[in-house]
Amino acid sequence: MKKIVVLGSTGSIGINTLDIIRRFPESFQVVGLAAGANHLLFTKQIKEFRPRVAAIFDKKAVAILAKKLKGLDTELLSGADGVIDVARHADADLVVSAIVGAAGLLPTLSAILTNKTVALANKETMVMAGEIVQREAKAHKVDILPIDSEHAAIHQLLHTPLHPPGRKQREDVKKIILTASGGPLLRYTSRMQKSVTCEEALAHPTWKMGPKISIDSATLINKGFEMIEARWLFDLPPEKIDVVIHPQSIIHSLIEFTDRSMIAQMGLPDMRIPIAYALFYPDRKPLPFKSLDLTKLAKLTFEPPDKKGFPLLQMAVDVLAAGGTLPAVLNAANEEAVGAFLQKKIQFPDIHKIVRKVLDAHLPIAAKKIEEVLMADRWARWETGKIIVRATHASPLH
Ligand SMILES: NC(=O)c1ccc[n+]([C@@H]2O[C@H](COP(=O)([O-])OP(=O)(O)OC[C@H]3O[C@@H](n4cnc5c(N)ncnc54)[C@H](OP(=O)(O)O)[C@@H]3O)[C@@H](O)[C@H]2O)c1
Repeated sequence: MKKIVVLGSTGSIGINTLDIIRRFPESFQVVGLAAGANHLLFTKQIKEFRPRVAAIFDKKAVAILAKKLKGLDTELLSGADGVIDVARHADADLVVSAIVGAAGLLPTLSAILTNKTVALANKETMVMAGEIVQREAKAHKVDILPIDSEHAAIHQLLHTPLHPPGRKQREDVKKIILTASGGPLLRYTSRMQKSVTCEEALAHPTWKMGPKISIDSATLINKGFEMIEARWLFDLPPEKIDVVIHPQSIIHSLIEFTDRSMIAQMGLPDMRIPIAYALFYPDRKPLPFKSLDLTKLAKLTFEPPDKKGFPLLQMAVDVLAAGGTLPAVLNAANEEAVGAFLQKKIQFPDIHKIVRKVLDAHLPIAAKKIEEVLMADRWARWETGKIIVRATHASPLH
């Protein structure tokens, strides 16, 4: 039986993870849960799964939880430190990292430093500090199993028994190709993007996800983040990582080998499939979900991404090549700008204009220590905040 911690249990990935766990009580035991502020759902989850420890980031919410959960054995913690304590709980074997944004970095790193296997949804961890995280994972002999459907696809493609034992399959990879649905604004010109509302940008055509990743999909920076994530997860140089738009979200990613043979991983867009793959790895279990019926697929189409119309994708490609503290700055500036857009303080195209300004103002250094990454993150949030205040006080962005 695997003992599991779910960080971000009240979010889209967290809820889907608990859905899988609920179906296989003989395979998994939940020993820890962590959430941000949604105490209503968190209370229900604690009552159902009875973890040994549960932490809620919002310190005000813990008193409410304590009242509602009187008599239960679960130890209740709060704040960022409480979430980290859950991530490194002594009883846990596997930590599902599904907090959104930079808040996921330290809990995920703490899980690695205490030798837990990590099932990683929080791509921001790899964007901000991929080199450090992989270094620590190697030092602690910890597996990081991707939950992102594209990376789960590549993981499966790299782990199929295509080659006899001992062959260095990695050297045979010419490139990996991450697919992108294109999001709700596929084929919107820059002019059309000016009038995009929050509701339009949140309406993802194929995946049901939390608000931040939904906006990241609309700007296409999500795919740029995934390129950075792939660089560190699979130890591939940036030039071996490509992106193609595939609106149907049926092929989740592909590998091209040096002999020009390509293999693809396919399936219906349901995050429970890659989540179950990570939870059961290295085994596979039958899942009671709908199969992909190939005869019902009208067509599968592919096209290059519009990096001019969606400049955040190109910015991610550039910071991937440049490295150092730039990816952490890109991540922080984007997170702040997306927050401002969701609060309707700025327009959709302001997101990329703001991020561009912050990247241009940054003097990057090599990011060898986690403190350097955290400093860059703080600096970028401060800088972004100033630009947002100016932009909302009658100084339009160019
Ligand atoms: N959704 C997908 O299909 C999908 C696919 C691939 C990758 N991902 C990645 O998975 C991560 C989660 O995405 P999501 O769509 O599940 O997001 P979401 O629905 O917004 O959920 C985010 C979760 O993080 C929690 N949280 C936020 N701040 C926290 C903090 N400081 N401490 C502890 N918990 C905190 C939230 O708690 P409250 O709700 O209680 O505030 C919630 O449980 C993101 O990094 C995303 O890029 C998601």
